[in-house]
Amino acid sequence: MNQESNSFPSDSMDSNTPVMLVTGSARRIGAAIVRAAHKQGYRIIIHCHHSQDEAEYLANQLNETRSASAAVIVADLAVVNNNTTLDVFVKNIIGTFGRLDVLVHNASRFYPSPIGYINHEQWNELFLTNAKAPLFLSQALLPYLKRQQGCIVSLLDIHAQDTPFSNYAVYNMAKAAHRMMVQSLALELAPDIRVNGVAPGVNVLPESDSDQALDDVKQQDIIASIPMQRIGKPEEIAHSVMYLVQAHYVTGEIITIDGGRSLTLAGSGF
Ligand SMILES: NC(=O)c1ccc[n+]([C@@H]2O[C@H](COP(=O)([O-])OP(=O)(O)OC[C@H]3O[C@@H](n4cnc5c(N)ncnc54)[C@H](OP(=O)(O)O)[C@@H]3O)[C@@H](O)[C@H]2O)c1
Repeated sequence: MNQESNSFPSDSMDSNTPVMLVTGSARRIGAAIVRAAHKQGYRIIIHCHHSQDEAEYLANQLNETRSASAAVIVADLAVVNNNTTLDVFVKNIIGTFGRLDVLVHNASRFYPSPIGYINHEQWNELFLTNAKAPLFLSQALLPYLKRQQGCIVSLLDIHAQDTPFSNYAVYNMAKAAHRMMVQSLALELAPDIRVNGVAPGVNVLPESDSDQALDDVKQQDIIASIPMQRIGKPEEIAHSVMYLVQAHYVTGEIITIDGGRSLTLAGSGF
């Protein structure tokens, strides 16, 4: 725990260039958000935990396109459990480019927790990544976001409200808490900081060799349940994140990006 380091190019871009931090952004949806924001001129802080190689590779690619435009910070989000380690994390974030304009809460853990088998470890990890870290990180970064009249965008889930994903009670509960954080903070932080969310349906299937994997039957059932008849693309989530970043009169909004899947969910499972 609390492993932490950062790496960033020494020459800096124009200090007026806005900065976005995306948690858990070395791969998949987070990396798509990073690429979309970079294309639109943002300087990017790629946060990761285990995927440092992928994060450095992505940062190098972005820095080749525009020098000194991307940096990597490595940290277990468990840093938020302790004020001292959280302070170090925040100093690292702000020390990277000297400012923060957009905070994207993307990092997450996602695995089943069937009732009867739920333990404290699962509860702590699923709530840490999907609810506690977003709240404590938002709180710690408030002064910097306020200075820039910045915004927060949270990656939520269509299963965070009314239509739970079967056997994922703890994940569903944690994302529901995160969803309410978006709405609560939108109210509390206006007019200085806008807070919005994106609720994906199924946009990238969990990797088949990971502990998050879904079996073939479940995957086929999911695809069959999507009116658009395909899973989404990470770029489609990134597109909505960038819309919310630029929508200056939108706060407390949660955009569903699910190919219509929520329309077919009866309220339990798929
Ligand atoms: N994929 C989908 O279709 C889908 C559907 C609904 C909602 N969402 C939401 O959209 C977001 C992105 O989805 P995704 O599937 O791309 O996410 P993901 O691959 O499951 O996770 C993103 C990253 O979270 C990081 N992470 C996990 N635990 C961490 C910890 N303790 N400390 C620091 N980082 C940690 C990991 O970083 P490292 O690899 O560096 O360890 C991981 O790469 C998530 O919030 C997810 O819940 C996704």
